[in-house]
Amino acid sequence: MNLHVVILAAGRGTRMKSALPKVLHQIAGRPMLAHVIDTARKLAPQVLHIVHGHGTSELLAAFAGQELDWVHQEDQRGTGHAVAQALPLIPDAARVLILYGDVPCVREQTLATLLRAQETTDLAVLTTRLVDPQGYGRIVRGPQGFVDAIREERDASEVERSIDEVNTGLMVAQAGALRRWLGQIQPHNAQGELYLTDIVSLAAQEGVGVVAVPVADETEVRGVNDRLQLAGMERIWQTREAERLMRAGVTLADPARIDVRGDLHCETDVFIDVGCVFEGTVRLAQGVRVGPYCILRDCHVETGTEILSHCVLEGARIGEGARVGPYARLRPGSELGDATHIGNFVEVKKATLGEGTKVNHLSYVGDAEIGRGVNIGAGTITCNYDGANKHLTRIGDDVFVGSDTQLIAPVSIGNGATIGAGSTITRDVPEGALALSRVPQRLREDWVRPRKKDK
Ligand code: UD1
Ligand code: CA
Repeated sequence: MNLHVVILAAGRGTRMKSALPKVLHQIAGRPMLAHVIDTARKLAPQVLHIVHGHGTSELLAAFAGQELDWVHQEDQRGTGHAVAQALPLIPDAARVLILYGDVPCVREQTLATLLRAQETTDLAVLTTRLVDPQGYGRIVRGPQGFVDAIREERDASEVERSIDEVNTGLMVAQAGALRRWLGQIQPHNAQGELYLTDIVSLAAQEGVGVVAVPVADETEVRGVNDRLQLAGMERIWQTREAERLMRAGVTLADPARIDVRGDLHCETDVFIDVGCVFEGTVRLAQGVRVGPYCILRDCHVETGTEILSHCVLEGARIGEGARVGPYARLRPGSELGDATHIGNFVEVKKATLGEGTKVNHLSYVGDAEIGRGVNIGAGTITCNYDGANKHLTRIGDDVFVGSDTQLIAPVSIGNGATIGAGSTITRDVPEGALALSRVPQRLREDWVRPRKKDK
């Protein structure tokens, strides 16, 4: 059946104490609402409706270009009122899944289970059991196990408050029935709001068997109301990621000290030391080792390569059996061949390095094409920028570049050429030649170092 998803995100989020709309606060480097949308999309809905109230321009900007139906809720008159705003665009024959923009960690499988439960009835609600159910709507079940009502904390009796099964807020309803029930709800409650939860007793009165689907892992359905809960949710997310990685054959030095803010794909026997952050899409092949305190964003690292501590790598591809770091920086467009070595305080940008090439210390390699088996000495700089344009440095195979060399681009160095240390190379160097541009050393054996004058 035609599925419509309605994500509630109109709440003010006062307790965040923030200029940013609550659902744009991030979990794992992405807005909470983005996670909910992602999970919802996996269920292949016909339309995804987002009910919003505050921070409209920020929300629209954050999700620009995405196919979403933005529904504005002028005044926040309650969850029932919020859902009603989306109904005009939903046909009676559809089914409606209601999600919360501030409940970011719910799993696709859990929602699939909820959807399956609703196939035999008009209304199914996702519930969970809490040691401390305070603040949540309680699930009041009838003798046959169907839900008779959801009672909000403020409206609950003493006996009802002792119920530990609570409403997560997530539910699935048959659209026609939902429309009928929402037309009947009244703001006759402690908060004077139109409660979505009141549709449950209306359904029960019609003889509908309202099914409660309990979710075992309550962390999935936790909401975020303040920054403490946001931080708590971040840890829940990261714990899940760490567990996923370890199950896939990755060794984590400490599963509590890794942050994955994107998609990290690892083959087996990858080792990741403490304090690493992964952003965007990162692929680590078999046996890759990542040292402590590295940041990798949109990188692809091949088999057996070792990234030593404190590296910042972005948009780089690194071949097999290479060694990078400690303290190396690879910027977008860095393509390092197999068995290359990049050492400490080396920056590489938009450069390809052939197999076995080494840049071991204190160098800048930008806008360069470097062959195989090249040795770039300490302190070498490709001077790629003339103040207006960037130029290319080409270095052939088996070139030896002495330390403290400046290569003034555009410039080409032929295969097998040697550049003497301390040179400033302004013209192309042919194959096999030696290029030297340093000032010859002078010696004065009779020279006497000046002394301080006696006073
Ligand atoms: C709601 C449920 C409660 C459940 C709890 C789970 C109702 C009446 N109660 O209570 O049973 O245990 O969630 O967290 O539904 N929202 C709007 N527009 C509104 C009001 C709310 O979009 O007019 C959105 C909020 O942004 C939020 C969600 O709906 O994402 C829930 O609203 P909230 O006011 O937090 O509901 P609770 O009182 O926590
Ligand atoms: Ca809430």
